[in-house]
Amino acid sequence: MKITILTLFPELFAPYITTSIIKKAVLQSYVVIECINIRDFTLDKHQRVDDTPFGGGAGLVMKAQPIMDAIDHVRQANSHVIYLTPVAPVYTQSKAKELSHYEHLILLCGHYEGIDERVLSMVDDVISIGDYILTGGEVAAMVVMDSIIRLIPGVISSQSIVSESFEEHLLEYPQYTRPEEVRGLRVPEVLISGHHANIEAYRQQQSLLKTMKYRPDLLKKAKLSEKDKKFIQKMVNDVEK
Ligand code: ADE
Repeated sequence: MKITILTLFPELFAPYITTSIIKKAVLQSYVVIECINIRDFTLDKHQRVDDTPFGGGAGLVMKAQPIMDAIDHVRQANSHVIYLTPVAPVYTQSKAKELSHYEHLILLCGHYEGIDERVLSMVDDVISIGDYILTGGEVAAMVVMDSIIRLIPGVISSQSIVSESFEEHLLEYPQYTRPEEVRGLRVPEVLISGHHANIEAYRQQQSLLKTMKYRPDLLKKAKLSEKDKKFIQKMVNDVEK
């Protein structure tokens, strides 16, 4: 896969691309990452990339011409152009999965008060990473690319992907590692029992409890077994007692 980032601040991406799992994915050629400075495409004699909004209002809007020319420069027949903006559907794990199948993603980062709306005529997809406003799309682009790169087969173990949060619309169960006791806090005994069926049942119950507590909205979408439903009902009854 190739990921091209269009931004006014390419230097923001260097540490991210050269660290940990993303660095490994690049070195092992699972992904090619290219950062392009939109400013390099301005035809303005003062190199301006923004201007005041028509109709008035606060802040500056990124001009259409440098962005459109930058898209034209990097776009190929198989490219999928994504604009990061709060004015969009909120990003999910299933969207990450869908995007992980493209050969070339172009992530367009806005800054200031956003971009000239006419650029959207060249955009295939818009993504918000959540209901809050960032200073620009760069951090959002990192979030999106991170979640996609780790899904490329080989980048991380496929086992980690199967048993993680949101795979079944449930939050992940809690994890523990050595030592068995820290500051008087013990690991749940079942996890050191070696009894695999009990461990699996315990983890499923913990997933259900975390989801009930923090994201009850997800339970409606989750595929729940009869056993899961009984467990949830029991927890609800216990609380109501
Ligand atoms: N740019 C500014 N805020 C954003 C958000 N929440 N998601 C994506 N891009 C953004």
